[in-house]
Amino acid sequence: MSPRKIIIDTDPGQDDAVAILLALASPEDIDVLGITAVAGNVPLALTQKNARIICELAGKTETKVYSGCDVPLSRKLVTAEHVHGKTGLDGPTLPDPTMPLQDQHAVDFIIDTLRNEDAGTVTLCPLGPLTNLATAFNKAPDIVEKVQEIVLMGGAYFEVGNITPAAEFNIYVDPEAADVVFKSGVPIVVMPLDVTHKTLVTKPRNDAFRAIDTSVGIAVAEMTDFFERFDKEKYGSAGAPLHDPCVTAYLIAPELFKGRHVNVEIETQSDLTLGMTVADWWGVTDRAPNALFVGDLDADGFFSLLTERLARL
Ligand code: BDR
Ligand code: CA
Repeated sequence: MSPRKIIIDTDPGQDDAVAILLALASPEDIDVLGITAVAGNVPLALTQKNARIICELAGKTETKVYSGCDVPLSRKLVTAEHVHGKTGLDGPTLPDPTMPLQDQHAVDFIIDTLRNEDAGTVTLCPLGPLTNLATAFNKAPDIVEKVQEIVLMGGAYFEVGNITPAAEFNIYVDPEAADVVFKSGVPIVVMPLDVTHKTLVTKPRNDAFRAIDTSVGIAVAEMTDFFERFDKEKYGSAGAPLHDPCVTAYLIAPELFKGRHVNVEIETQSDLTLGMTVADWWGVTDRAPNALFVGDLDADGFFSLLTERLARL
């Protein structure tokens, strides 16, 4: 089978970085048409720079990186330096990028790519707030039916929120954008906190990254060392969850993940539960399913895949 063509939409972020590295290490499975940066974990000036730092770390300087929206559709940007550090990629010391940023705006790149490629052959992989995608869908509604699938990290249901008691960060930052995406009719696979909180970087898993003993392996170990301090204290868990790599791992090995086709709607009104992903897990409404909401994974299988692929870079 030919590799799946994807656009990674991202706000790096250490876990975004690992998701990107996994994709770039897997050319037989994944063809990264471009990486589009969005404001999220840190402001856009840093996320677009961090995306290029990661491509250079991977030795894939030919990857096209585009800069996108710097604020949510209709709200003030909320960032997460308290988790990811001032740069968004705190942990390893990595050089500033020398590869160029593309001139085209990320939203126009998404639109042009979907118009130029055959219908149903491009998958969108958002790892941050959904501002770029929603802006593209609003600006060019004709592209919506051309998307093969959206595989995204965002939301939470049984696991509840990580930025408010009800909401997960990516959806909370731009709930209006998430609402556009979830109502778009495109098939969606959701990696919510319900599954990503099972991808804990325990000490042996972190040691396995370090033991790769390449600049990539060591940088990934240092990144997970960094944000684990915050997460271990917050959750009292054995390590930090690697949220975003669930998206790229799913493209390579979907059999590692389990979920249900359910209806998911986004709360955009209530101050109390803004950005909540209301998943009809028990089918108690007659709202049509619009997403595969993932709830479980084979964590050991996920970490062996990740470690084996990172070792190739
Ligand atoms: C999500 O928010 C960000 O902090 C992470 O990069 C991930 O995409 C987890 O809630
Ligand atoms: Ca992210």
